[in-house]
Amino acid sequence: MSRKIIIFDTTLRDGEQTPGVNLNIQEKLEIAKQLEKLGVDVIEAGFAIASPGDFKAVKAVAETIKNATVASLCRAVEKDIDRAWEAIRNAVSPRIHTFIATSDIHMKYKLKMSEDEVVERAVAMIKYAKKYCSNVEFSAEDAGRTRPEFLFRVIKAAIDAGATCINVPDTVGYTTPPEFGALIRSIMENVDGIEKVDLSVHCHNDLGMAVANSLAAIENGATQVECTINGLGERAGNASLEEIVMALTTRKNYFNVHHNIDTTQIYKTSRLVSNLTGVHVQPNKAVVGDNAFAHESGIHQHGVLNEKSTYEIMTPESIGLSANRMVLGKHSGRHAFEEKLKELGYTLEQDAINEAFKMFKELADKKKVVHDEDIHVLIGERVSKIPEVFELVSFQINSGNRLISTAMIELKKEGNIITEASTGDGPVDAAFNAIERAVGIGLKLVDYKLRAVTSGQDALGEATVKVLKDDKTFLGRGISTDIVEASIKAYLNALNRMMSEIS
Ligand code: KIV
Ligand code: ZN
Repeated sequence: MSRKIIIFDTTLRDGEQTPGVNLNIQEKLEIAKQLEKLGVDVIEAGFAIASPGDFKAVKAVAETIKNATVASLCRAVEKDIDRAWEAIRNAVSPRIHTFIATSDIHMKYKLKMSEDEVVERAVAMIKYAKKYCSNVEFSAEDAGRTRPEFLFRVIKAAIDAGATCINVPDTVGYTTPPEFGALIRSIMENVDGIEKVDLSVHCHNDLGMAVANSLAAIENGATQVECTINGLGERAGNASLEEIVMALTTRKNYFNVHHNIDTTQIYKTSRLVSNLTGVHVQPNKAVVGDNAFAHESGIHQHGVLNEKSTYEIMTPESIGLSANRMVLGKHSGRHAFEEKLKELGYTLEQDAINEAFKMFKELADKKKVVHDEDIHVLIGERVSKIPEVFELVSFQINSGNRLISTAMIELKKEGNIITEASTGDGPVDAAFNAIERAVGIGLKLVDYKLRAVTSGQDALGEATVKVLKDDKTFLGRGISTDIVEASIKAYLNALNRMMSEIS
């Protein structure tokens, strides 16, 4: 009988710690619901004490999700644990996840605590958390650089205190697969009682080894892996869920383990997270990158045409990429649209379908063919819709290689029309300057990206901007077949997001 591997997703917590990523509650809920569909066992919904917004989001996820355990992270501190419990107490299956650092470097420079003090604190806080919740996970932060004997001691004490899951993070992505595998094996061999709890790993990708380290840990006895969609996370990110899961699935005979993931939901989940976070997936990314199933060279194409398995070790269908690449157009009706949504794995409420259909029709008017990728972006756009304090009415741009670009913008705010004009270094800059004048709020543009969603002359352009206001970053997305319009929409989206968060 193969071993079950628990898939613990931390996209909403460690993933949200990706620099520049800032999801609102609605977006977090949408991702959590999709993770539930994907079949993850545990959703780490956030760090409840970090901010009122984080608290509300963890609470909303805990009260919505029925088929997965919902965890909140907290330091080994009473007030953190209280707050975490307050946020997750209504979950069908709540988990408190508490952590303290155990490496010499962290204990000396960050905690300024001795080994004995760290053990004492961990034990006391696990016991404290157990008063609230039977399901308590303990993480020994920076375990990858912790002295093994001390790690065994902390883990044993944590198990005796009642922890039901022990997590061994490679917090700084320092270890190599043979080393990390051996560490997990040594824990299995040296800690009494380890067989009674789940042994988890949480690998960061600083040296590009997070997935390999996680797999080595599984080979050596780990029963839970912590990972994120698209490998999002602090610095170089966390181990990518889709890569771990597809490795376990494709090489099932080798690993001899099973999991609960519906792999056909992988692609859709990846796109949703990418659309909502504004972090694009690199084309050559394993499993979910645009090129993951593209064959460029003649020899490869020839091989695949004769027999797919010559160059494909997994099928596009296995991650939910449809074999039937039927496209829609302006003559496609509601029925075809709804069928396409189903085929792409979206089950939306009637209101949401109506709204998405309206957006599809507007798009189909401008574009000859609407591809699957366009639909994924449309759905992402619908999810990230926020109240429009400032609404775009019209814009006019005058630009050329021998002209100073000028933009005239007409916005609506509470029924009143505001019109402003400005010059700028190119049409987009001119438009952004005109918006700033119209709204009377100074913002700093810190990032601007433009990409074509599909290929071809009438491709849908997606603009992503990040603006800074009082040390807080706000993400905005806009789509249109016109790249200046996409950029203006993205800028207004960021502005409206800021307005909704400060109001
Ligand atoms: O990387 C890490 O060590 C963590 C822990 C808090 C689990 O994210
Ligand atoms: Zn981490």
